[in-house]
Amino acid sequence: MVGLDLSEAELAAARARCGDEIELVEGRAESLPFADQSFDCVTSHLALMLMTPIEAVLDELLRVLRPGGRLIAVISARAARQREEDALSWFMRVSRSLASAPAPVLGDERVSRIESLRELLHRFEIEQLEALVLDLSGSVDEVWELLSSLYRYGSIAPEQQGELEARFRAEADRMRRADGSVACAMDLIGIQASRPLRAPAGSS
Ligand SMILES: C[S@@+](CC[C@H](N)C(=O)[O-])C[C@H]1O[C@@H](n2cnc3c(N)ncnc32)[C@H](O)[C@@H]1O
Repeated sequence: MVGLDLSEAELAAARARCGDEIELVEGRAESLPFADQSFDCVTSHLALMLMTPIEAVLDELLRVLRPGGRLIAVISARAARQREEDALSWFMRVSRSLASAPAPVLGDERVSRIESLRELLHRFEIEQLEALVLDLSGSVDEVWELLSSLYRYGSIAPEQQGELEARFRAEADRMRRADGSVACAMDLIGIQASRPLRAPAGSS
């Protein structure tokens, strides 16, 4: 098993968690340092939606997979339909207004919608593309711990981080559900696809 990330710090965190069982490689998904057809399965968790150019990344995933090899991935998604504001959507809205500079736009937004993702995956055999809702509700402290671990939080000046936390704690009551937990959910897309056993006619 091999893990890859472009960030040395992320790799160090992975090494601390996995020990020596997994080979960890620094590299970029759009130019993978692996031979053609060298993997039975590629898996990615909450990362594909950050990558550009996404076509190059998907070409690379296809290249390193054996025919019939599978891509299993989870990405964060644009909500398919509007829900009542919960802790995460509140956080994204309010943190946007507090940030000193607009949050950098990372990745390709076509990845975060099932219809455009289906088109991007046209060279794969798609087994399943499904909208998922991950329930992250919990106590005020648990939900705040999650929100303050998001990239967005790091882009807010330290003096405003305190203000954001105080506003969240005041707001949390409104989002509290009957069981006392604070509502928080993340929209995801689950991908199950495979490299076709035979290349389509006309491709090399
Ligand atoms: C939200 S984190 C998810 C990390 C890990 N998969 C997890 O679930 O804990 C996204 C990761 O994608 C990595 N990343 C972003 N663009 C990349 C690229 N083009 N090539 C390789 N890694 C990339 C980042 O360095 C970061 O570690």
